[in-house]
Amino acid sequence: MIQFKKILLTGVNGQVGHALRQLFARQNIPVIALDRTQLDLIDAQAIRSAVCEYQPDLIINPAAYTAVDKAETEPDMAYAINVQAPQVLAEEAAKIRARLIHFSTDYVYAGNRQGVYVETDVTQPLSVYGQSKLAGEEAIHASGVQHLIFRTSWVYGAYGKNFMNTILRLAAEREVLRIVADQYGAPTSSHSIADAVLAVLRVWTGQSGTYHLVNTGETTWYGFAQAIVEDYTKLGLMPPLKTAVQNIHAITTQDYPTPAARPANSRLSCEKLKQDFGVTLPDWREALQNELALFVRSR
Ligand SMILES: NC(=O)c1ccc[n+]([C@@H]2O[C@H](COP(=O)([O-])OP(=O)(O)OC[C@H]3O[C@@H](n4cnc5c(N)ncnc54)[C@H](OP(=O)(O)O)[C@@H]3O)[C@@H](O)[C@H]2O)c1
Repeated sequence: MIQFKKILLTGVNGQVGHALRQLFARQNIPVIALDRTQLDLIDAQAIRSAVCEYQPDLIINPAAYTAVDKAETEPDMAYAINVQAPQVLAEEAAKIRARLIHFSTDYVYAGNRQGVYVETDVTQPLSVYGQSKLAGEEAIHASGVQHLIFRTSWVYGAYGKNFMNTILRLAAEREVLRIVADQYGAPTSSHSIADAVLAVLRVWTGQSGTYHLVNTGETTWYGFAQAIVEDYTKLGLMPPLKTAVQNIHAITTQDYPTPAARPANSRLSCEKLKQDFGVTLPDWREALQNELALFVRSR
């Protein structure tokens, strides 16, 4: 049971939105699920009208501008979706005393410190995307809405455009892959995020806060790619891949330049989530095996 009677969910065709929608449906929790055609978040007036019309008691906003590299040349669009939209959602929610769940990112950090980040560590985004997500967090704080912001990382799953699906596609076509091995973080499955959000909703008494929410453990993109190929092959999944694990080669960030800089260290401590809500996400490798099984079933 959860205490919310009318949940408004944005971005339902995105990775996290899709996983949340599926989970709520399985749990028989009714949700007003809106995709971009039903609510374009670029349109502040449309957001105001939607909140006024549906009168939700909880808004969950996984919609975002997530094209990290493109954001460098489209900052206005990134800020409209990642700052203005959550700001208006938060202000409208505050007016009707609804609560807000929002998602943010490891890219709010510079990634240049040793060890794991905690939520109170200094933020210093390296990219337009990271700056826009941080400004979105700040707009929500300023609105006075009762809210939770979940900073997650390296989101992937059987559904959507993401690293796992890209590696599986490339590994089916090529014998050799070169993957960046000097960025550290936690791959986090969309289903682990949805499960954790629901677990939090069951116990959330209304305090506001910012929380890290990532699968347990850590690796590099290189380690993640190796695990994808290794587990897919071990599970005997079909069709077979052309890339063998030993033919995945480690490269550096410098070898693979991108328009937006990425943090080298994206290790996020989830101790606060555990302390305040008793919620811990599964190990990333276990989550990967579930997503691989879903990937095969969905084909
Ligand atoms: N992906 C990652 O690796 C990652 C890492 C850390 C944090 N996060 C954060 O986690 C959250 C969920 O990310 P995700 O991976 O689920 O993102 P995603 O798969 O890229 O989905 C984003 C969703 O936002 C929707 N959207 C974009 N512009 C919109 C607009 N103008 N109006 C309405 N909807 C719009 C998209 O709609 P369409 O389907 O129509 O395009 C899409 O459904 C985001 O806050 C993201 O910043 C993601």
